Amino acid sequence: TTTISPLIAGNWKMNGLRGSLDELTALAGMLTTGEAPRALVVICPPATILSEVVHQGATAGILAGGQDCHTESHGAHTGDISAGMLADAGAQYVIVGHSERRADHGETDAQVCAKAEAAIGAGLKPIICVGETESQRDSGDAENVVAAQLAGSIPEAASQHEVIIAYEPIWAIGTGRTPTIEDISSMHAAIREKLTARFAEKGPSIRILYGGSLKPQNAREILAVENVNGGLVGGASLLAKDFYTIISAV
Ligand code: G3P
Repeated sequence: TTTISPLIAGNWKMNGLRGSLDELTALAGMLTTGEAPRALVVICPPATILSEVVHQGATAGILAGGQDCHTESHGAHTGDISAGMLADAGAQYVIVGHSERRADHGETDAQVCAKAEAAIGAGLKPIICVGETESQRDSGDAENVVAAQLAGSIPEAASQHEVIIAYEPIWAIGTGRTPTIEDISSMHAAIREKLTARFAEKGPSIRILYGGSLKPQNAREILAVENVNGGLVGGASLLAKDFYTIISAV
């Protein structure tokens, strides 16, 4: 069995003004004074403060990521940001296909796949998000839905380059509800199986993160589940103390 080093990423979503950098400073302090974390630590702030996160996080080993990128490298796309621009600002990761982007911007698996490909092309590691709705879970379709998202959203280039998968059941995001440990375990095992079926020997080494109401109170139990190789944290990543507790739980 392959040992995968854990990764904990914070997704600040559309939260974060310059004042939020105080939380980053606090987190950096905790990370440098406490025991060295086992996990790689990534913060995905809004693009407006990405370069500050890159610079202020560096001394504490905090890595930075974008929250989305365009499929193209440059051009007439007002308001969009290319993967190359994120890399230029110092990002090493980028979230693609978050359910909020799939919902708010109608992003399809094919677009998410193209974004992941663009990210790889720019030297970034895409964090590709998948996850079912509540009604899909209730009707027993969760695994099929996720399998289809994986098939459509992961580019072929993942056989040669690092990608990260984030399983985020939509009904668990920002709700305080989480799947049972058994459900997390079986979904992550199912994802692992798909990755190994498609990418052969590379499959066992791909990180699969869990996301959705990951909190200081449940992190230790969830992050210990087999095939859970870290977490993608929303709300609880905004407070240094909470995020640090989650980081320390692996
Ligand atoms: O991308 C992380 C996210 O969607 C989870 O959000 O607030 O439930 O931790 P939250």
